[in-house]
Amino acid sequence: MQDLDEFSATEAALAQMAATPNPRLKEIVDAAVRHLHAFARDVNLTPEEWLAGIGFLTAVGKACTPVRQEFILLSDVLGVSAVVNALHDKKARELGSQSSLLGPFYREGAPELQLGDSIVKNPSVAEIVVYGRITDNNGAPIPNALIQVWQTSEHGLYDLQTLGETGMDLRANFRSDKEGNYWFRTVRPLGYSIPMDGPVGEMVRHQNRHGFRPSHIHFLIGGDGFRELVTALYFGDDEHIDSDTVFGVSGSLVVSAKDDPNSPVKGPKAVHYDFRLARAAPGESGRVGADPTKLAAE
Ligand code: BEZ
Ligand code: FE
Repeated sequence: MQDLDEFSATEAALAQMAATPNPRLKEIVDAAVRHLHAFARDVNLTPEEWLAGIGFLTAVGKACTPVRQEFILLSDVLGVSAVVNALHDKKARELGSQSSLLGPFYREGAPELQLGDSIVKNPSVAEIVVYGRITDNNGAPIPNALIQVWQTSEHGLYDLQTLGETGMDLRANFRSDKEGNYWFRTVRPLGYSIPMDGPVGEMVRHQNRHGFRPSHIHFLIGGDGFRELVTALYFGDDEHIDSDTVFGVSGSLVVSAKDDPNSPVKGPKAVHYDFRLARAAPGESGRVGADPTKLAAE
């Protein structure tokens, strides 16, 4: 019989899991156990603190609903989602446009609109145009790419927050044309606070963080034979551009809306961005994130 102390408990746990048949599952759980045990030793975790942590995770689970994924939010504010995104980008067989967080407000089944349409039902400010091309890594056009976009309104709210689970606004699906072009009209989204009314928000407040994300438009772009690109464009003049609560901003994704003689719609200010998709490797795994209604259903 082994005498267990704070070190031999780690060895005992690893030994008992040693016969896990799935090698990848074994690798992941072994590492999680080693890191969790080391973390407990590092901070000299007390029983009260351990219970407080269990209570916090329980509250995170209870805050999840079909339209709210508090665990993804937790991963986001801790920077874990950003790390997983960066690792995913590095695994690509070629470097496409940089990825960013999917976030909790993506929905499948947004309305299919025609190029040039507006994604906003009732704009209260002047519209802008967003346009560019979807190409492969050599700049060759990708026709018929599926471009899913979603964003907050000019008041900083997603449709899920104002219209509930079933209403759709400020989101749409487009297909690129024969030359890989896309363009649509929208309003400039307002930066917004992540949901702060749950346990994750409470944690963020305890850390004296502001909880805001800079103004951005989400994109999920897919083409046959290409790796799906989950990304977002960020407006560089937002006051939180350098302090995104969920670490989604990268320099290559920062844009501005400006007068642009090349815009396909004359008049409104335009954001121009060309996206590059990397070719998919066989059996490559999918996006980092999910429609929260799908997670709840599983
Ligand atoms: C978003 O961009 O929609 C988002 C991402 C992470 C957490 C909260 C919101
Ligand atoms: Fe967002």
